[in-house]
Amino acid sequence: MDWRSHYRDHLVTAQRAVSLIESGDRVVVHHACAEPTELIEAMVAQAEAYRNVEIVHMVPMGRAPYCAPGMESHFWHNSLFNGGPTRQAIAEGRGDFTPTFFHQIPRLLRDGLPVDVALLHLSPPDEHGYCSLGVAVDYSLAAARCAKKVIAQVNPRMPRTLGDSFVHVNDLAAIVEVDEPVIELPPPNISQVEAAIGRHCASLIHDGDCLQLGIGAIPDAVLRELGGFKDLGIHSEMFSDGVVELFEQGVISNAKKTLHKGQFVATFLMGTRRLYDFVDDNPMVWMAGVDQVNDPRIVAQNDNLVSINSCVQVDLQGQVVSSSAGLRQISGIGGQADFVRGAAMSPGGRAIIACPSTARGGQISKIVPFIDPGSAVSTMREDVEHIVTEHGVARLWGLTLRQRAEALIAIAHPDFRDQLEAEYGRRYTSNRHY
Ligand code: COA
Repeated sequence: MDWRSHYRDHLVTAQRAVSLIESGDRVVVHHACAEPTELIEAMVAQAEAYRNVEIVHMVPMGRAPYCAPGMESHFWHNSLFNGGPTRQAIAEGRGDFTPTFFHQIPRLLRDGLPVDVALLHLSPPDEHGYCSLGVAVDYSLAAARCAKKVIAQVNPRMPRTLGDSFVHVNDLAAIVEVDEPVIELPPPNISQVEAAIGRHCASLIHDGDCLQLGIGAIPDAVLRELGGFKDLGIHSEMFSDGVVELFEQGVISNAKKTLHKGQFVATFLMGTRRLYDFVDDNPMVWMAGVDQVNDPRIVAQNDNLVSINSCVQVDLQGQVVSSSAGLRQISGIGGQADFVRGAAMSPGGRAIIACPSTARGGQISKIVPFIDPGSAVSTMREDVEHIVTEHGVARLWGLTLRQRAEALIAIAHPDFRDQLEAEYGRRYTSNRHY
């Protein structure tokens, strides 16, 4: 059928569109800044019509009303990465968390968690009937391809990102036209601690490197230190406004990349309208499913890949906890292991885990003798390479347990070094061996 007729025939209100969801369905929601707010609100407004609808979602940027108190019998949240609104809901039992490597989520949706409905937020169709997944392709592309029904809100303000990032109108079961701002993430404020971390990370970066940066203040602090560099490249799970600024300054050229030379590569984007205008219809930006971007075997095809991610806790052996504090599930592993392992296999690559030396306003040390009971290790001690705090760089790779402890104590906050030294003494200067 001509896609234009299909589009016209399937154009409905949001209320009508979400009535295609049935009780017991598994609904996968478009990720991060592409969250389809109008469809989610319409679905939750009709909560009484549903029983046991499973909502699979990763980084929530909106209110996540499907896991608000009182929604338990209607919706059950299966989180792939907790954020502000969903952290609380999971802690209070209005859902659960599935541990998974980010690059394996498409496989999970194909083979492990069959998708009944995908709720998407798309750009308007081009002349051939293709809508772009815009600022989030990640697992959303796989959800679109596996779902029995795809329901989409189509928004002229969603940038048309290029790459393997398209869904065809003929595959949409219901279309809702909206004209609303795409969710934005403003650049964070950088504290003095983060600025110092940025400087230490920058000392590990060389001209021509290919960068992966996580979300938040530390990646932005690193970018601010890169003004004097040349020919940097980007192959990153995500990027934000700071990368555009460095491109405009001539620092990022992607010219030395060994995979997708000349192109930025990402699987999702979080930023302001400035970023969204930059990526719109821009062949310099290649976006694709997370299995095509984060798979460590693909990451490793970039020479000199430098990954920079953050964490919650590091123990004296170099085990890195990034998504939980005890049994409290703070976030998810995201692409941390994907890129740490990809960087290790990349010729000339380097993996950096960077974090402030303390948490909770300086009350607790992030470098600890033992990780909290219940915490999950995200980067194994065998995988870890560099740990960076505001107090310096510890290169752990290849070090013995004793050397690791020494290197980590040297970058711990001075207020906690005595306690760590005492533990070091118990472990390594007595005859006890663990
Ligand atoms: N002990 C106990 N709680 C801790 C803690 C510690 N050592 N470190 C952090 N926390 C708590 C904070 O108190 C905060 O809780 P609150 O919101 O109730 O106050 C929460 O964890 C988040 O801490 P915050 O410092 O705001 O985190 P952040 O926004 O800087 O993110 C990570 C840090 C580690 C959570 C985040 O980088 C992450 O999820 N990383 C794993 C995923 C990843 O690396 N992806 C890579 C590609 S994007």
